[in-house]
Amino acid sequence: MPLLEVANLSVRYDKAVILNGVSLSVDAGEFVGVVGPNGAGKTTLLRAISGLVRLEERMKRGTSGDIVLEGEVRFSGRRIDALGAHEVRRLGLVHCPERRRPFRELSVLENLRAGAYLSRSAAETARRFERCFALFPRLAERKEQLAGTLSGGEQQMLATARALMFEAKLLAIDEPSLGLAPRLREELFAAIRRIHSEGVPVLLVEQEVGQVFRMADRSYVLSQGKIIAQGKAEQLMADETLRAGYLGL
Ligand SMILES: Nc1ncnc2c1ncn2[C@@H]1O[C@H](COP(=O)(O)OP(=O)(O)OP(=O)(O)O)[C@@H](O)[C@H]1O
Ligand SMILES: [Mg+2]
Repeated sequence: MPLLEVANLSVRYDKAVILNGVSLSVDAGEFVGVVGPNGAGKTTLLRAISGLVRLEERMKRGTSGDIVLEGEVRFSGRRIDALGAHEVRRLGLVHCPERRRPFRELSVLENLRAGAYLSRSAAETARRFERCFALFPRLAERKEQLAGTLSGGEQQMLATARALMFEAKLLAIDEPSLGLAPRLREELFAAIRRIHSEGVPVLLVEQEVGQVFRMADRSYVLSQGKIIAQGKAEQLMADETLRAGYLGL
């Protein structure tokens, strides 16, 4: 049984079809990538999986602009597509959204502590802090600094680190490298690789196809709301049409 199983997922905003019958899975221990052009529906896919689309749907119900979410999402065998974002996170499916920013008025330490609110004990929280700082030495050097005074890239790093303060059974990350300089990007990808190697399955959405292909066991190519291809990097790269048309390689 896959850890995460998405079956025939569709999302419509009013009449616009954003996701159209998407099916994908992530097995225990796997690193799965999702790539595709701007506007393909990658962010919507992660938001639908993590309960954010459902939350939006509930908030908007009865007002103008209907949101329709259909299909099934299972996590550890359990249906989660009717759950809101908080319930999904409580089950261990942790979503680190696109362009996430930390709380500017809080220090690095306080931001991370806010991420650990579901921690069972002080010892557990301490262990998670240690892990975060081992993964992000740059943040360890800036514990007391107010998040608002970190560089844009460091803030983005902190947002990813904060997601790690949850006990993730699956980490779903949306464009973590967006706008980062090469050096920070490398640090961030190294951290993500290490998180995975320590046993946390990863579902990664990234513009940088080459980077995804180096890290992921398998990837899906999403275009106009549909999965148009999937497989290992070598298989996807071998497809000329795919390479030229969708992967930009
Ligand atoms: N809340 C919303 N209401 C209406 N349309 C939306 C909403 N969210 C997303 N869309 C539309 O759905 C399409 C897919 O958006 P999405 O953000 O999922 O794409 P993406 O693949 O993540 O793109 P990018 O690579 O630019 O981040 C876009 O055309 C977008 O305008
Ligand atoms: Mg996106």
